[in-house]
Amino acid sequence: MDYEWPEGMVRVPEQDWATQPLGALALKYDTVERHGWYDNLEPTLDQLQAALQPGQVLIDYSGGTGILIDRLFRRDPELDVGAVIVDASPKFLRLALEKLGDDERVASRWLQFLKPDRRLQTLDEVLDIEADALVSTNAIHLYYGLDDTLASWRRCLQAGASVFVQSGNIRNPDQPEGSWIIDETVGEIHRIAMQIVRENDRFAEYRAVLDDTETMQAYDKLRNKYFLPVRPLAHYVVALEKARISIDDIDTRLIEARVGDWCDFLGAYHEGVLGWVGGVKKISGSDATPDAVVHRLSLIRTALKRLFEERPSFQACWTYITASAR
Ligand SMILES: C[S@@+](CC[C@H](N)C(=O)[O-])C[C@H]1O[C@@H](n2cnc3c(N)ncnc32)[C@H](O)[C@@H]1O
Repeated sequence: MDYEWPEGMVRVPEQDWATQPLGALALKYDTVERHGWYDNLEPTLDQLQAALQPGQVLIDYSGGTGILIDRLFRRDPELDVGAVIVDASPKFLRLALEKLGDDERVASRWLQFLKPDRRLQTLDEVLDIEADALVSTNAIHLYYGLDDTLASWRRCLQAGASVFVQSGNIRNPDQPEGSWIIDETVGEIHRIAMQIVRENDRFAEYRAVLDDTETMQAYDKLRNKYFLPVRPLAHYVVALEKARISIDDIDTRLIEARVGDWCDFLGAYHEGVLGWVGGVKKISGSDATPDAVVHRLSLIRTALKRLFEERPSFQACWTYITASAR
């Protein structure tokens, strides 16, 4: 479908990432598209469909492999809206381009890490536009420079523009009892895996490290780098307001996650989940052997089964923040 971008807008900058081969981790991440817990995008898609008007521009900040925009245009193939997918990962962006690059409505921007400044480029450093809406799904809990990030969002939005933020990793006072903050399952997997290693001789070779407090602290630190400690909703509310983005509504939803899907997803990040099983080069001096990786994956699966007492799924709590640029 044709779409008219503002005069001078480059859809896809001529940068190396855009012509690189597809990366394995990006392809693996993209399989979440088929996971039940990725229904977390559906309420956001409802919001976008209700809000977007013909001719408008939407920024998908941290748009990753393009799952949200793909679903948006599948829901409404005639939607007359331009979508700029912005991400810090050139590999994820490359896959998004592979999937959606032929669609004239889709543009891409890469946020490069600026080594001398030790920061990511800000949105307005890569995009000269005042958009009508911005969405961020499953990502805000990852922003280490939250205030700077939100300030850059505001600079790329018209006054009155809609902002839709959602994440399953926000401590929400309305979280229903018995539901999970999805990344907090990882600490539980680690705890249960330590028990299994102590009980089961199949894993005897990994016992020694459990009593090495300093090394285990290094693995805790690594785990917290992959799966960041959860911050409270108020942290994000205050930061958005400070960036002149006013909160309109906060909604809480339960999303059903199949244990098998979640196990499969975590398998891609086994080093972060259970690095101490077999080791990680920067901590132990060498990476895990293929056999140790098999053990890691098996421990993740068994720990999840124990955690959820063999149930096939669990409920995860997702928080949806709707806001407006003022
Ligand atoms: C869990 S993925 C979610 C991707 C996509 N929004 C979705 O819902 O499928 C998180 C995304 O945030 C991006 N990301 C991580 N840290 C970031 C940061 N500091 N600023 C911008 N994007 C970041 C990652 O590259 C990744 O694409």
